[in-house]
Amino acid sequence: MAVTGFLLVAYLFAHMAGNLKVFVGAESFDHYAHWIRAIGTPVLPATWYLWIQRSVLTVAVVAHIVSAAILARRARRARPVRYAHRPKVQASYAARTMRWGGVIVLLFVIYHILDLTTGTLNPVGDPARPYANVVADFAPDRWYVTAFYVLAVVAVGFHLQHGVHSALRTLGYRGRGLAQRVSWAVSIVLVAGFLAVPFAVLTGLVS
Ligand code: HEM
Repeated sequence: MAVTGFLLVAYLFAHMAGNLKVFVGAESFDHYAHWIRAIGTPVLPATWYLWIQRSVLTVAVVAHIVSAAILARRARRARPVRYAHRPKVQASYAARTMRWGGVIVLLFVIYHILDLTTGTLNPVGDPARPYANVVADFAPDRWYVTAFYVLAVVAVGFHLQHGVHSALRTLGYRGRGLAQRVSWAVSIVLVAGFLAVPFAVLTGLVS
């Protein structure tokens, strides 16, 4: 759970940092997107690195879901008789929403790839012009797209807060306070970095 989770968090930080290039301008952002496709050349043919990364991420997502199912089954077996009264305040909001939060994030990633990678659901939809795709995506009249992105990114944030917190506790951070502070800091930085882009387009700061 933790190894695959760490890989996915590392990808998200790299992706978030790359997205912020939108503030430098269209040329810089498009150049960055073209560079991603050229990583590894000339040792590897163009886009090979990208496909290796995509394969590793896909395996990580599948392994993450399988580990979650195994852990849930183990927890059920450890307590075959369900609690008669399960107080609602037992766990934090993030902990209680791990399963459905994860499903929302997965559905979002599928939509997101069809939107900004293949361009199928994007008004511009030109994979060679990612800046234009992003600006068209979060235009004010498409506020519902921004709303969906906000929902998904906040779901990622909650999912991550609980995941990082659990991983730190497993690694032996005994003090609840430190694990809590680190996990909140990680997810707040990520959520703010991701949401900066749609809001900048929505408010006309990026156009
Ligand atoms: C709201 C903030 C986000 C923006 C503006 C954004 C932007 C983009 C863009 C422009 C691409 C296409 C890159 C290219 O083909 O050159 C992309 C791809 C992608 N994004 Fe995002 N993204 C955001 C949030 C997220 C989140 C939260 C996740 C994961 C939970 C995510 C996962 C991905 C994945 C998996 C790809 C496909 C990468 C590939 O082609 O291999 N993105 N994103």
